[in-house]
Amino acid sequence: MTQNTKPTALVLIFGATGDLAKRKLFPSLYNLFTKDKLGSFAVIGIARRTLTSDEFRENVKDSIKDLNGTDENLEDFVSRFHYHSHDVTDSSSYAALKKLASQLDSQYHLNENRIFYLAMAPEFFGTIAEHLKSDHLTDVSGFKRLVIEKPFGHDLSSAQHLNNQIRTAFAEEEIYRIDHYLGKEMVQNIEVIRFANAIYEPLWNNRYISNIQVTSSETLGVEERGRYYEKSGALRDMVQNHMLQMVALLAMEPPIRLTTEEIRSEKVRVLRALRDFKGEELKDYFVRGQYGKGTIDQTDLPGYREETMVDPESNTETFVAGKLMIDNFRWAGVPFYIRTGKRMQEKSTKIVIQFKDIPMNLYYETEKKVSPNLLVIHIQPEEGITLHLNAKKSGQQTEATPTKLSYANKGVNGINTPEAYEKLLFDCLRGDATNFTHWDEVALSWAFVDSISEVWEKDKEQSFPNYVSGSMGPDAADTLLEKDGFHWWPISDLDVEQC
Ligand code: BG6
Repeated sequence: MTQNTKPTALVLIFGATGDLAKRKLFPSLYNLFTKDKLGSFAVIGIARRTLTSDEFRENVKDSIKDLNGTDENLEDFVSRFHYHSHDVTDSSSYAALKKLASQLDSQYHLNENRIFYLAMAPEFFGTIAEHLKSDHLTDVSGFKRLVIEKPFGHDLSSAQHLNNQIRTAFAEEEIYRIDHYLGKEMVQNIEVIRFANAIYEPLWNNRYISNIQVTSSETLGVEERGRYYEKSGALRDMVQNHMLQMVALLAMEPPIRLTTEEIRSEKVRVLRALRDFKGEELKDYFVRGQYGKGTIDQTDLPGYREETMVDPESNTETFVAGKLMIDNFRWAGVPFYIRTGKRMQEKSTKIVIQFKDIPMNLYYETEKKVSPNLLVIHIQPEEGITLHLNAKKSGQQTEATPTKLSYANKGVNGINTPEAYEKLLFDCLRGDATNFTHWDEVALSWAFVDSISEVWEKDKEQSFPNYVSGSMGPDAADTLLEKDGFHWWPISDLDVEQC
């Protein structure tokens, strides 16, 4: 239930000396604090390393030094941070943590509201959740919530196992599974664009839409994450979560109310309707790629197999393109094409909704077909919406020329900023789980992805590496659409004009 008053809670961050805490969580909390959105709060930073609270506060200060705020704000903010050096498997360590938590509860009047944020290696998620219960940290009179980062398991069975572990300590409605794409402004805007405009929803179906394309491309490679990525690949890293979540938002039926339960249940229905591809037929629907050497911004870059912690004969995919079919009345016959990859030409996430051609082309533009109408949703780095229309070419009698209506929503902080985390943290503090993934969504997404990875794991891809760093992926990704008479809309041509 969403509260209107400013949220009050003790936030316990496991993994407080890690990258996520430093880059996203501390800046997000600080932004919420300076915007005066928080009630009373305190934070316990928890990690293995031995640190004093003062040293920890210095780390926190360092992570927020570039953000707006007064010195007074900053001191008040960091004074609420406390540090606990912790062994995740040792009950006595949890007992000391419990003591500190109770002390801060009374000191800051936190009503025993607790948020446990697991910002650390997933292999400890289950152990921590079980200890929180058995060592009584979850015995509180206020609310208790668990925030959990991806990856949520490696496949359906490991995700199920993890879920069973965390469910021993937390009820489903107390679990906030982060998918940071759901915190992005324009991803949240999908629902509003669809359900707050009378002009789109009547056209939002297989009668008027020919295909939908969702691209999330990155220029970065695997950086220092080779060990994780080798086991994950683009399919588990991006498709199982972010890509399927965007598809679910695009394809879902209008919920009867904008409540967490209604929205989630509509998304679940989309995931249930995803067509499952068996064995050989997968080739017609999914394409994988792995980057080789190449150049981006005049810098020569190594291929994936040359990256640190990567097997020189690795079969891991760094690119996936797929054609999803949603077998329900609304979407029968409409392909949802998705593609995502590392070391691509540019960093961009865009959704293109391509409308069907007009029944009869009366307007010729130098013998060319009239361009189809496109609705482009710019998720990042630009944020906005563009509607591609045709209008009369000035001066000519009947010729049509493509034109664009653009709405640019200037991103506050650019790419992958604390912005998404700020919103998600605030939602969690207020008890709004809408933009977090429910177990049913996680399970269905894994089941879908497992059926692909099972085929890929058996069948080693012989052509790896099959795309050059700095390109838009392997040729097969283009063929996937060409077979259906479509093509990927070049993302660089679709830029939203700044207003
Ligand atoms: C993460 C993946 O979930 O999303 C990363 O693990 C990826 O591999 C990142 O780089 C992309 O996020 P964004 O917000 O930069 O598009």
